[in-house]
Amino acid sequence: MHARFSQKTLSIARALIESVHDGMYIADHNGYYIMANEAFERITGINRQEMVGRHTQYMIDNNWVPRAVNLEVIKDFQTRSRIVQYPSGRQLLVTAAMLWRDNGIPAAVVSTLRDLTELNLISKELKNSQVMIERFKKRIEYLEETLGSTNKFFIGQSTDFRRTLSLAKKVAGSDATIMITGPSGVGKDVLAQFIHYQSRRKNSGSFVKVDCAALPANLLESELFGYDKGAFTDARTQGKQGMFELANGGTLFLDEIGEFPFELQAKLLNVLQDRQIKHLGGLATIPVDVRIIAATNMNLEQMIRERKFREDLYYRLNVIPMFIPPLRERREDILPMIKHFLKIYNQNYNTGKFLSIEALNALMNYDWPGNVREVRNAIERVVVTSADEVITLHDLPGEIRKTYRLSPPPLAGLPASSYPVGPLKEALDTMERELIRKALEASPNLAETARILQIDLSTLTRKNKKYGLTGHVKTGGQVKT
Ligand SMILES: Nc1ncnc2c1ncn2[C@@H]1O[C@H](COP(=O)(O)OP(=O)(O)OP(=O)(O)O)[C@@H](O)[C@H]1O
Ligand SMILES: [Mg+2]
Repeated sequence: MHARFSQKTLSIARALIESVHDGMYIADHNGYYIMANEAFERITGINRQEMVGRHTQYMIDNNWVPRAVNLEVIKDFQTRSRIVQYPSGRQLLVTAAMLWRDNGIPAAVVSTLRDLTELNLISKELKNSQVMIERFKKRIEYLEETLGSTNKFFIGQSTDFRRTLSLAKKVAGSDATIMITGPSGVGKDVLAQFIHYQSRRKNSGSFVKVDCAALPANLLESELFGYDKGAFTDARTQGKQGMFELANGGTLFLDEIGEFPFELQAKLLNVLQDRQIKHLGGLATIPVDVRIIAATNMNLEQMIRERKFREDLYYRLNVIPMFIPPLRERREDILPMIKHFLKIYNQNYNTGKFLSIEALNALMNYDWPGNVREVRNAIERVVVTSADEVITLHDLPGEIRKTYRLSPPPLAGLPASSYPVGPLKEALDTMERELIRKALEASPNLAETARILQIDLSTLTRKNKKYGLTGHVKTGGQVKT
């Protein structure tokens, strides 16, 4: 039958269908085999040579295929698709369509066979990759948090902290310039990032941090504003975008603004006023849309008096001042931070360490001159260095142990008979504290402790707070209750 096709047509058609990934099978309008491609052999396992001169029905009769869609098409000329399960177990989507000659006479039936088994596999692989991506995303979030570079875990519960947080959320909605002040390690970087990620700018641009103290004036200038090719004598220099451009649409965080070189301050002021920059060695003005957040632990007012910081720049930056107080002035934040970092580092080092009551008390009583950074470092250090699951007073850094030793709770641990004569109230408090501490140690949870002591849970909670008794801080940051 295929004699009706010229050799040339056949060879072009053959080359074409050979190159297709789906299986193709061509029969004449009576159902006799004309040709099939290599993919057909691969997918069905049927040898093409076997088919020469045979009718499609032959394949069915030999149980090579359960059904032939082309035979259905021959009957009514309607294109149709069927999912056919082949004896090999493969699931195929078979589509058969009539080919017509110019004079309206049916010429051949083309069947394409798409291997759904393969597609199913691919879609399964895709699903697996998506699961992996989710897993990696979580891992990245976790690593970012461990490295301290996300906004997600901004810990604190003190009134001060909550006030800062709600102000941050409020101002995130605006583009107003913010000046964050506070001693070293209190979380100025974290706050700046938090504001960026709370704002719509997180979708339109990046958070770009410039450490103004890290570079000498000339380098800082080119980093901030960028430069054009040939701006420097070095002929290789290709030109570069500045931080202002990199932060376009986002937030530019000028960290350590107190260290910003005096000779560059007028230029920075101009950029902040005009919201446009010029590359060094360039002529074009480039508009920039950035939200500025500056931070410092220096006393800028004092620096203004000493003529080390421009007053006009100060007022331009200090539109919304935010102060983060040292940790010792918001002691309520200490415990949640200890819990948080303990959880983080337990996860990080795959440990399940927890703090003894004394160790916890010592940490909570300490003044933390290095603020949150010091808490973080101290907790990491004890998680790594302590030998047992329970972290005791002796595992703590010397300076924390020392200050705690200097002021242990008065009379703690002494039997009543050995109490020196003194204020009754103090002795009773000490006795009460000791009894509660022992009960806490002896019972699995607060409710049980309250039952042993025959007091209300709320009374116990109040007294715990009064005496700084918080129970064991367990793995996962949960206080054992
Ligand atoms: N409220 C907080 N919750 C969780 N982690 C915090 C918090 N505040 C600070 N940290 C962590 O403490 C460390 C120090 O914080 P950060 O770098 O923001 O301090 P800083 O005020 O910018 O200090 P410096 O003045 O030295 O630049 C970081 O690891 C940060 O992740
Ligand atoms: Mg900082």
